[in-house]
Amino acid sequence: MIVDEREHGQILESIHLPTLLASSDVDTETSLRWWHKAVLYEVFLRSFADANDDGEGDIAGLVSRLPYIKDLGVDAVWISPWYVSPMRDGGYDVKNFLDVDPLFGTLEDVQNLIDASHELGLRVVLDLVSNHCSSQHPWFQSALASPEGSKEREWFYFKDGRGEGGNEPPNDWKSIFGGPAWTRTQNPDGTPGQWYFNLFDSSQPDLNWKNEEVLKHFDEILRFWFDRGVDGFRLDAVSAIGKDDDYRDMGFAPDDLYRPDIWGPVPFFDADGVHDVLRRWRRVAREYPTEKFLVGEVVVRDVDRLARYLRRDELQSTLSFDLCKIVWDANAFRQMINTLQSACFERRSWMTWTLSSHDEKRTVSRYSQDGPAEGVLADVTQTGRERARSGYLLALTLPGSACIFQGEELGLWEVTDIPEDKLQDPIYFRTGKQELGRDGCRVPLPWEKEGTSLGFSSSHEAWLPQPRGWADVSVATQLDDTSSTLRFFRSVLALRSTIFNDDEWAFTWDPSPTGVLVLRRGPDFRCVVNFSGEPFQIGPDEEALVSSSPLTHELVIDVNNAAWLRARRSATN
Ligand code: GLC
Repeated sequence: MIVDEREHGQILESIHLPTLLASSDVDTETSLRWWHKAVLYEVFLRSFADANDDGEGDIAGLVSRLPYIKDLGVDAVWISPWYVSPMRDGGYDVKNFLDVDPLFGTLEDVQNLIDASHELGLRVVLDLVSNHCSSQHPWFQSALASPEGSKEREWFYFKDGRGEGGNEPPNDWKSIFGGPAWTRTQNPDGTPGQWYFNLFDSSQPDLNWKNEEVLKHFDEILRFWFDRGVDGFRLDAVSAIGKDDDYRDMGFAPDDLYRPDIWGPVPFFDADGVHDVLRRWRRVAREYPTEKFLVGEVVVRDVDRLARYLRRDELQSTLSFDLCKIVWDANAFRQMINTLQSACFERRSWMTWTLSSHDEKRTVSRYSQDGPAEGVLADVTQTGRERARSGYLLALTLPGSACIFQGEELGLWEVTDIPEDKLQDPIYFRTGKQELGRDGCRVPLPWEKEGTSLGFSSSHEAWLPQPRGWADVSVATQLDDTSSTLRFFRSVLALRSTIFNDDEWAFTWDPSPTGVLVLRRGPDFRCVVNFSGEPFQIGPDEEALVSSSPLTHELVIDVNNAAWLRARRSATN
């Protein structure tokens, strides 16, 4: 997890962006652009909506539900990879970056989607997988068929093994998904060959980003999709494309199976070379007359490293999942927010805040646990539901953009009882079935109150079975209920688009009792989140604009709840 080694403490200074722009070396191109306070809605395509009734979500299904996304009040959709893929890692294993997988549709469907989104005023942000491709990608296939030292092998990380006959992996590095990060190849004559590096699954060989042909191919990929009208890219695991190649051992034990904590402080993450690649991509993005947004999934060890990604000629924003990793605790939230925001202050840049994604356990489930959401999860509680709404009120208050993973607006919970024969996540298999993996947050959405897959498909069963209780939290059910989580999100997002100014870039923490966070933006607006064990009394000079649950008393915010407050206007105003 990211740390701020400089111990910034509170960010107290209020900074007004136009003043700053006039006085600093801020990149004026990135000042006040569409994404500055945009809310992105993450669509995991395979689980969103199924138009052709095969039990798998598709692009036409997404098009049919665009009005729902628009009505939610977001500004953009970030869509999980739709490229041609064997689907060994949910589409993050790409066989052809320049086409659409038939499971999801066609290039024509993509064009329909982009045009229909733009007509509704929604931007389209696509996921770009660059650290690796699929082992079925023609490049990897030709590298396997080519001799050691060939130019084809240079596109990847092929190394000789250690020990007798090269039977040991080149070093002790671990895959993030569990097990070793090296896979042995077979020579065309059937004898054991070199090893290749795979930070994730063995079906996802890492690309060598020092290779000019790899670089050129990705320029082409960016232009291919930008030319079709894509408004930006979420850059998947982008800090991993920079690697030190001294190949030193890290001291991992051979039976050290699952090390998700290796995101960050290891030689195969965040080497300086990544920044040359980001500058190159930003130059490609700048070839277009409309602003293209590059937001990176950046996992690094400290704020100074994070701030480097936000330099004026690199990314406009980073998407941090650090907030998803912390437990429900006021100090933890405050510290993490300060840490991330200080990287932005340093670069005059913007964070994309989120509490959820297709890789994280659902928020209502996480916040229903007493401690970290690890191992067997306890059942969802009312407390968890209230905390999730409160967490979103906080995240949506922060300056910058925000991202909401599909189904969070319905309060869906993590599904922990998916039958084993349906589980797909490579983490489950690579950890010897010790870790359940990420399928539980990827279960297809419930749209209707009834039907085989609650309106996800018209008659087919969904590819991952939905829990029985999801009829009660379906979109149709929640639209009928004014106190539903869906209605809550709609109100919050409608308010958000009007109450914050585009140029309000800073916030302060107001003094507050232990366990209560009070985040101020501007003279009139505060967000109060009650993490403490006692109800929190609001002063009479403030009124609640929206709250996580209905307030039991007009001036009291209950434990686990939150509210957006505005200074009361006097009768004479
Ligand atoms: C990113 C994606 C995740 C994927 C991994 C490997 O972290 O969000 O879903 O498994 O990269 O591509």
